[in-house]
Amino acid sequence: MEYSLREARASDKEMLAPWTTHTFAWGDYVVDSFDRWLAHPQSRVLVAADDTDEPIAVARGVLLSPDELWLQGIRVHPDWRRRGIASELGTSLQQWGAQQEAKVALLMIEDWNEAARDQIRHVGFRETTTWLRAFQTTKHSGRVAATARGGRADEPLQRSGAGEVGPAFLAWSGGELSRAARGMMAVSWQCRRLHIADLERAAEHGALLAGPTGWAVGAPRDNRLEVGWTQTTPDRARAHFDALLEVAVSDGASALEVMMPSVPWLEEAAVAAGFEIERLLLFEKAL
Ligand SMILES: CC(C)(COP(=O)(O)OP(=O)(O)OC[C@H]1O[C@@H](n2cnc3c(N)ncnc32)[C@H](O)[C@@H]1OP(=O)(O)O)[C@@H](O)C(=O)NCCC(=O)NCCS
Repeated sequence: MEYSLREARASDKEMLAPWTTHTFAWGDYVVDSFDRWLAHPQSRVLVAADDTDEPIAVARGVLLSPDELWLQGIRVHPDWRRRGIASELGTSLQQWGAQQEAKVALLMIEDWNEAARDQIRHVGFRETTTWLRAFQTTKHSGRVAATARGGRADEPLQRSGAGEVGPAFLAWSGGELSRAARGMMAVSWQCRRLHIADLERAAEHGALLAGPTGWAVGAPRDNRLEVGWTQTTPDRARAHFDALLEVAVSDGASALEVMMPSVPWLEEAAVAAGFEIERLLLFEKAL
């Protein structure tokens, strides 16, 4: 069975859909994201095509910053696995990233996904950090009732302006959460180095939250409140999650998702606040 790599095109989507829609127990995002991936100016989407030019594998690379190449969406049709196709797609995207002067390739894998972990180690990536995805729908939250009654968290988080950027960055960059995250933040499951400009931008867009429990960057996405950066302390962590939940409820979001580095006290506080936790492994390779 022959195959060759080529650039993806819009017409590939309907041929990818039958075998990339239910890849995981939770479904998949490849088909929903495909048009946006193709349109993104800093992104490259490759497919492996069989001898009739039908795509039998797909992968995407995107530059998250001038230095950081993010790899995602690697899917190989079940009949074509263990022939080196994922590895070849990854190599080609890394070569492209290096041509764009990226210095590092990054990707994330759910901890249960042994095949993907083995494949990515096989091609020289090393595991650097464990991230936690803490998730909770707002409809089961006791906070909904409190907010509907006009109740307030004891220590609420408020949308803040530029004045909170410096204190937030200082508290985080010298602290445990920054070390555990290796200086990174997450934006929609994509991790990259956090710079003070990210907090400045968040403040400009009303996404920087500040209060007695700490700080967070949270933005709406698909009717959820998505938090990709947070700073708190062990004694305030539980109240911090309650305050985040309250923001999600008052925004009318159906759920709250917090991406955070794996730190025991942070995880314990999230579980105590009613969140479900998934583990995600961040892998990295120098280009
Ligand atoms: C993970 C996946 C992309 C691997 O694709 P692939 O084309 O089969 O991988 P490769 O042939 O390039 O694998 C290279 C090496 O990785 C390792 N590997 C790949 N799949 C493996 C598996 N199922 N079990 C153990 N090792 C595996 C092996 O060392 C393999 O070399 P070998 O075949 O000579 O032993 C594919 O299984 C897939 O599409 N899975 C579903 C989607 C998914 O999980 N994507 C990644 C999400 S982050």
